[in-house]
Amino acid sequence: MKGNGTDKKENMLMSIGIQINEKRVIGVRDEMLYGHFIEHFHRQIYDGIYDPKNALSDEDGFRTDIIEAMKKIKVPVLRWPGGCFVSSYHWKDAVGPERKPLFDKAWRVEEPNTFGTDEYIKMCRKIGCEPYICTNAGTGTAEEMSDWVEYCNLEKEGQYAKWRIANGFETPHKVKYWSIGNENYGPWEIGAKVSDEWGRLVREAAKMMKHVDPETELSAAAIPDVNWTFHLLQTCGAYIDWISLHQYWDMVPEENNLADYEACMAFTERIDRQVDVVRGMLKALDLEKKIKIAFDEWNLRSWHHPNVHTIKQGVDKAEYIAPRDKNDDNSAYTMADAVFTACFLNAMNRNCDIVKMANFAPILNTRGCIYSHKDGIVLRSTYHVFDLFANYMGDTVVDLWVDGELPKWQVKNKWGAVTEIETLDMLATKWSTRPGLAISAVNKHRTEAQTIVLDCCAGKKVTVYMLQGKDENAYNDVDRTEVNIITKELGIGTERMEIELEPHAVHVIKIV
Ligand code: AHR
Repeated sequence: MKGNGTDKKENMLMSIGIQINEKRVIGVRDEMLYGHFIEHFHRQIYDGIYDPKNALSDEDGFRTDIIEAMKKIKVPVLRWPGGCFVSSYHWKDAVGPERKPLFDKAWRVEEPNTFGTDEYIKMCRKIGCEPYICTNAGTGTAEEMSDWVEYCNLEKEGQYAKWRIANGFETPHKVKYWSIGNENYGPWEIGAKVSDEWGRLVREAAKMMKHVDPETELSAAAIPDVNWTFHLLQTCGAYIDWISLHQYWDMVPEENNLADYEACMAFTERIDRQVDVVRGMLKALDLEKKIKIAFDEWNLRSWHHPNVHTIKQGVDKAEYIAPRDKNDDNSAYTMADAVFTACFLNAMNRNCDIVKMANFAPILNTRGCIYSHKDGIVLRSTYHVFDLFANYMGDTVVDLWVDGELPKWQVKNKWGAVTEIETLDMLATKWSTRPGLAISAVNKHRTEAQTIVLDCCAGKKVTVYMLQGKDENAYNDVDRTEVNIITKELGIGTERMEIELEPHAVHVIKIV
């Protein structure tokens, strides 16, 4: 396939031999690796997926176009309601006929509480995904968290199960996944904790939540900080099932100065560093077979919300509310975001023996892979990466290595320092239910096409699904579609199959 129209020779790097041993299984990917997150922030819930007055919404007030887009990428799990929002949220205000409006102290807006637990469960059923509830470990208590589990999971024992039944939900919601707190390690978080406090609260909360429903799986916020996480694991390792990690690489909460393409590629270096560090701690405590990692908030770009994660808060809404609309600028979500997202998903697949969940933050609006407006939706570049991984890649990761060295590329990171990265990021998968291979091949280089050579295609049908834009800054918007998946049938493969990978592009090579 041609690159961006320039002469093939001029742009071509040397051919790279790729070896795959499909008998050597790295791990079986949990489908929750392609999970998502939605928060009560800006237009994710209200005027987002929950928009009862919109003609595109169903009888329960959910936008059917957004639900259908989520079903297409097989959203397996959807974390809710926050995020920072949750650390001063009380779930009891948002169930039943009387909803108590809340002043949301995290984001400094009124939360009407018309969307609560029961609406969230309805939404998950419509999408066909697992619920994953994050509880309030900021101003909340172990009792309030375990009451929430009672409300969702007990048949009829106690007041909270009876309350759910009275609210019209006879059958328990059966929420399996729960997070104890959000980022309570961070000074920006309401109800931030020090390590000792955190360990005790998590242990007591875990105890009470498991006493209500031992089948729940509980996660707790951790960071790749040995003191915080080691102490947490020593105090609560016996009680929790998951460790929760978060990361945004291009940090722009205060100033929306987005990293350019090359700087975004610099962020792909050691993209799984947090996983490495936490894996080491779990191993040191002999917990790596018991506790899984949920990377339950991640995105290349952090959300832009100036003057609220700060000590000095904005006074005029123009300072701290209006700037949130800058997240809605669709031109910000380019091939840089798509290439980075593919590299992250490749890395999590390579760690699928311990990383069993990851949640793109968020799925809708803000930095989401779907943008919605009153008349429809825009599928941003990252949406198509999830389409490629959820619908074209296999569930079993197998060994892949490269003959010799991968080509390197010197790029400037966001602070102007030169760093050298590999231009290619590849992952090989197969299916547990049928023959064939699916290879994710990401060419990070901004301008140079790359040729790879595969020796596993002889006699097999080879198809390349490529996500590319006209250049690295291509994006989709209400009135423009520059980024989508192109299918290229390469016919029956030969012993030595050369495949050209376009620059700034994500490819899935299907060999069946
Ligand atoms: O920017 C959004 C925030 O990022 C989420 O609410 C929080 O969990 C993380 O700090």
